[in-house]
Amino acid sequence: MDKEKTYKMETRMMHGESRSDKWDYVHHVIPPLTKSTTFKLDSTVRGHEGFVSFNSEEVAQGLKHPVYVYDRLGEPTIDMLEDMMRDAEGGEAGVAFGCGMASISTTLLALTRAGNKVVAHRTLYGCTFSLGSKWLPRYGIDTQFIDLNDLDQLKAAITDETRVVYAETPANPTLEIIDLKAVRNVLDQVNANRKEEDRVWLVVDNTFATPWVQRPLEHGADIVVESLTKNVGGFGVDMGGMAVVPAKLIPDMKLLRKDLGGVLAPTSAWNIMVFGLGTLALRARRQQETALKVAKFLESHPMVGRVHYPGLESFPYHEVARRQMRDPEGKFAPGIMIYFELAGDLQTARKRSQTFVDKIAADAYSITMAVSLGMTKTLLEAPGLMTHSALPPEEQSKAGIHPGGVRLSIGIEHPDDLLRDLKMALDACM
Ligand SMILES: Cc1ncc(COP(=O)(O)O)c(C=O)c1O
Repeated sequence: MDKEKTYKMETRMMHGESRSDKWDYVHHVIPPLTKSTTFKLDSTVRGHEGFVSFNSEEVAQGLKHPVYVYDRLGEPTIDMLEDMMRDAEGGEAGVAFGCGMASISTTLLALTRAGNKVVAHRTLYGCTFSLGSKWLPRYGIDTQFIDLNDLDQLKAAITDETRVVYAETPANPTLEIIDLKAVRNVLDQVNANRKEEDRVWLVVDNTFATPWVQRPLEHGADIVVESLTKNVGGFGVDMGGMAVVPAKLIPDMKLLRKDLGGVLAPTSAWNIMVFGLGTLALRARRQQETALKVAKFLESHPMVGRVHYPGLESFPYHEVARRQMRDPEGKFAPGIMIYFELAGDLQTARKRSQTFVDKIAADAYSITMAVSLGMTKTLLEAPGLMTHSALPPEEQSKAGIHPGGVRLSIGIEHPDDLLRDLKMALDACM
């Protein structure tokens, strides 16, 4: 891999390691797609090797090739995708999952036990909020939702039982940026006085950005979790998730994946690897260029109140975004997500957002009203009513989710067509 490391990231995301020690193939230009739920074991020794090596790098290194025994433990196509994502995120090891939520839930369970605490930013994807507020407490793991950009709040929230600080940056849906270096500094001070097993881990969801736009590990995160269903997969045909973790967490992560069962399908891993990752840079460049045009257009329209887009100078977190969101070439990469509020007082804005979104649903051609994001097709939704409806109204308000808020995920259509449909629907709100 050493020579390959000297090639650019976008080339590596296409070619991977060119050939893999995960299994023997030499003459395929595209890695063959394997599909076998179970694997032939030549002897009891091989069977045993498979069971003791699937979650142990140390044991695996003693073997010429990995010994696969059963899909849920490990499988060649998934292993190759894990290696590519580890490379893209700049981490030590990747663990793939059937969807983003499986990567998040498994990671949080691997890092905590009953009595421990998670401190999370108050603005999060609805299902992650629901995991922390509804399900984890059943197992004695409480989550405190705070403003992570307020370091005094963070310091006050961390107790002896805290094991995880969790953030999305940019946050879904408001695109608020968390200053990861600042959070890291606080955690370094906390961890300096703790035993390794009691340390606090900084876990960052990189779904909105993708490793093309930002690599949280470079800014102090310990672990990256993300949905591959979104812009990494890119075409909206497969679900997937990934956790990029320090190598020492691999034994627990893979054991827990095996036992909870949130595994990725090999066909999905193959699509994400061959079509998704290989075109991520190309898509992101086009989508970001369009996103800036769209954000500027929205800012200029009288029916629009605030526009949240990291590329706009008016965006309150523009400066942190410029520092943190950089593509692998070092260029500012503000991403493909926009959040905006319809103009007027809360009630007027709420009414207008419904008129606007319904008009898009009924009459737009280039913009589709649908949840999810990061596809080649432009998608639009109203988070308060849809993706974040798991948050009660008062929590939505604390999270900065405006009743007249709309989330836009920019695709690869011609920008003029997107502006045309947006103008048509906004004019209908006048
Ligand atoms: C920020 C964020 N994290 C995680 C997820 C969950 O991903 P998946 O739908 O692949 O489980 C989503 C889904 O929209 C998301 O927006």
